[in-house]
Amino acid sequence: MTTSDASLGRITGAYPALGALVRDVLDRWPAHEPYLRRSLGAHDDDVLAVVDGAAAQVARLIGDQTDTFCEHYRWMCDVFNKETLHFLRTGAYRCKTFAEANAQVYSNAPFMEKYMNGLLVSQALWSNHARAVYGYTRRFMPTLRPGADYLEVGPGHGLFLARAADDANVASVTAWDVSPESLRQTAEALARLGVTREIALVQRDVTSAGGDERFDAIVISEVLEHLEEPRPALTALARHLRPGGRIFVNVPINSPAPDHIYLLRTPDEAAALVGSAGLRIVDRSAEPMSGYTLDEAMAARGTVSCLFVAEPAA
Ligand SMILES: C[S@@+](CC[C@H](N)C(=O)[O-])C[C@H]1O[C@@H](n2cnc3c(N)ncnc32)[C@H](O)[C@@H]1O
Repeated sequence: MTTSDASLGRITGAYPALGALVRDVLDRWPAHEPYLRRSLGAHDDDVLAVVDGAAAQVARLIGDQTDTFCEHYRWMCDVFNKETLHFLRTGAYRCKTFAEANAQVYSNAPFMEKYMNGLLVSQALWSNHARAVYGYTRRFMPTLRPGADYLEVGPGHGLFLARAADDANVASVTAWDVSPESLRQTAEALARLGVTREIALVQRDVTSAGGDERFDAIVISEVLEHLEEPRPALTALARHLRPGGRIFVNVPINSPAPDHIYLLRTPDEAAALVGSAGLRIVDRSAEPMSGYTLDEAMAARGTVSCLFVAEPAA
């Protein structure tokens, strides 16, 4: 399949897990079809194969709760649309501080549950999220040396952790998260994903000083925009990298969401942030939101996921 002849019918036929997820969503929300056609139709075969793997992980996490997750996905799309209107009107994210995000989102358990469930579905269906999975899978993981000690900060649903646990080059897998509740959810997700390998889940603020642990691979995906000041977090992570080690950074720009605090406006601004933390970028890409080219997304102040593979600068 090429980009030009991609259609939802062909995708659902050729990629079973992705096809099933698309059908489950469209059965309950037919009007979402044009969005999914634009989003998934932009991927080539290799991207779709990787996204199909992610969709299989998503299906395991959804289990028999299809109605609930599809409903929460639709609800979350609505929440994002409202945040987008606010952003386009004001040029700013609604929350500026962690305290605000905590009051409005993190400490609101019913909101958080729906939000996390919706985000899970978006990992396979939203173009920029799917391409982050692709970048991690094809451009980061294959570059790891054998025997790599692997760290992920803020692992969420554990989709990346489960892949790392399955990778023959990875000797140990560790995850840090500041939130005990997030770690509990990650542990539950890993069990549902069938991960049996030992993974150290550690409550830890990435910006906290100290600790002499060193890793060969570090992943921080969709976390920096949740921080009031992301540079100290990246600088700390740069210090936790062994010489020759690599970090995968995924940070969205122009990405209004209820709990996003730190606004980056251009891919170069995101690259400058990574560079300012003592990291040398060896690979980068900018993945626009569904249905947009990069130029179109920049002109519309739309969301772009910025992916970086970097290593210690000196
Ligand atoms: C949106 S989730 C990221 C989920 C996943 N990485 C993804 O790409 O979908 C952000 C996570 O970062 C964690 N986090 C936020 N600030 C942190 C900090 N200072 N140190 C460690 N973890 C942090 C949050 O608790 C949350 O679990």
